[in-house]
Amino acid sequence: MRKLKTHFAVLDNQKKNNRYNFGGNPVNVETQKVKTFMQKHDNQKEALISILQDIQAEFNYLPREALTIVAETLEIPLIHIIGVATFYRSFSLEPRGEHQATVCMGTACHVRGGPKILEEFERRLGVESGSTTEDGQFTLETVACLGCCAIGPVVVVDGDYFAQTSIRKVESIIKKYKQN
Ligand code: FES
Repeated sequence: MRKLKTHFAVLDNQKKNNRYNFGGNPVNVETQKVKTFMQKHDNQKEALISILQDIQAEFNYLPREALTIVAETLEIPLIHIIGVATFYRSFSLEPRGEHQATVCMGTACHVRGGPKILEEFERRLGVESGSTTEDGQFTLETVACLGCCAIGPVVVVDGDYFAQTSIRKVESIIKKYKQN
């Protein structure tokens, strides 16, 4: 529960900083968008995951306001929706970066330097694993195994696989996606 409170504290803070906009006139626009996703599924409770997928695809995360609308419309307790959202790795309660960088920390990649590569990403991006950079460009994460151990250590950015990565390659990988 503390983790969820932290999630929402972060969201509230970002709202204050206008990182996303549900205030003023846009409220209706965003609310309508969320309602459209539910209408697409005939406001069926059983379609909750599909609705959350639509919201995630639209906003790149699940804003609390959107989840509240879903809870009220479908008459599902908000805590249940949050439980579903936190169960599936594909959902996020925090805004995600424009680019998703994932460092494999599975055994095969780990023994070939995965932790050092992760450290280098953290150092260059200025965030810890599981966080998003201040400028919103990158979200850095780890994964247990990507299923391609033979080409490890592996890093994936936006679905692009980088094989046999090393600390020296981290800078060029970031550069490829970073906008100045
Ligand atoms: S351990 Fe990294 S791909 Fe399997």
